[in-house]
Amino acid sequence: MVETKDAVAELTESQQWMELERQYVMPTYARYPLAVRRGKGCYLYGLDNRKYLDLLSGIGVNALGHAHPRITKVIQRQAALLLHTSNLYYHEYTGKLAQRLCQISGLDRVFFTNSGAESMEGAIKIMRAHAGPDRPEIIALDNSFHGRTIGAISITGQPKYRKDFEPLLPGPRWIPANDIAALEGAFNERTSGIVIEGIQGEGGIHPMQPEFLRTARRLADQYNALLVFDAIQCGVGRTGQYWSHSLIAPDVKPDVMVTAKPLSCGLPMGVILTNERAAAAIKPGMHGTTFGGNVLSSAVALEFLDILDELLPQINRVGEYFRAGLRDLQAKHKFIKDVRGHGLMIGVELDHPGKDYVMKGIEQGVLFNCTHDTVLRFLPPFIVTEKEVDQGLKVLGRLFRAYRKPKKA
Ligand SMILES: Cc1ncc(COP(=O)(O)O)c(C=O)c1O
Repeated sequence: MVETKDAVAELTESQQWMELERQYVMPTYARYPLAVRRGKGCYLYGLDNRKYLDLLSGIGVNALGHAHPRITKVIQRQAALLLHTSNLYYHEYTGKLAQRLCQISGLDRVFFTNSGAESMEGAIKIMRAHAGPDRPEIIALDNSFHGRTIGAISITGQPKYRKDFEPLLPGPRWIPANDIAALEGAFNERTSGIVIEGIQGEGGIHPMQPEFLRTARRLADQYNALLVFDAIQCGVGRTGQYWSHSLIAPDVKPDVMVTAKPLSCGLPMGVILTNERAAAAIKPGMHGTTFGGNVLSSAVALEFLDILDELLPQINRVGEYFRAGLRDLQAKHKFIKDVRGHGLMIGVELDHPGKDYVMKGIEQGVLFNCTHDTVLRFLPPFIVTEKEVDQGLKVLGRLFRAYRKPKKA
């Protein structure tokens, strides 16, 4: 324990970083004891130059790994030209990027934001504005996660995120994922919309079923409500397709889709995509944001989308390879209950808590995390190769072999 601020100077550099955070940063995050200064490809480097295989990519953000040469080049070029214009003026990339996003989503209009939660918040406003004051109800799914702002936690189906901030938005109507009877029972004339993650991420990598998405589409049409897909974690190539719903039910199109994480490869950027029907609810002056769609993030996102086109086959191939390796481990260890996911969005469900594996993974130079207590989550960079996956599997195999079931007291 460091008692005075002067004593901070006597600590090693990483200890200093930790100590300063302890003194001055709000204690919202339980960080792991790892400090990094640089990254290259799929690896992060500690201050002692120790190498860590990054199979989490900043929780699904660093889609092209670290210091990708083409991204670095765009950032350098753009930094020397112009970073931000505000939304009062035009810049080169807004229209181009919006057009590209519409082309890959089949939707019609884009609003640029800075994060997932901000995108979700905007989608809630669109649902409200579209439905008017008499239809405030949103249908949301148990076990879902949509971000940490008040609107987003209001429709997040995990009580631990909501409990300290109530009362929240009134409602919503909670239904279990993939429960078609519950879905049919939840829609009524007060419904403004339904929000669904194609694959629940934070909730433990749980994909939706095709019929569930189709029924949601049919009922949203029937009640003139909006079907909103949260593609913040499972979107923009993560599953080996641009969007997880294209994989699950290609015939289903949302009215609104929000995404963020990988879009600008580590720079803050989110988007709300809508069809014309949903966009018509928002008139000039009804919504805005200062930083959203700034020049730098937009230029990087355009470059990323160019690269992503070529990467989709690799995401599918390496993702399947990774899951096959994990299934081999499952065959050896009965405590691995399930290996699931698509592309490079992968969950390994254990019959016991997974947190210790995360710590031991760091000790052995491999980074991943644990969600929903028992699900090890892997969201590697899209550039990950079979060779790097082999390295990760080797360490995981070692960690699983070392597991000892606790003796009953
Ligand atoms: C499905 C989903 N929605 C929303 C969010 C919130 O995004 P952000 O943390 O960028 O606000 C996340 C973040 O993990 C997410 O996974």
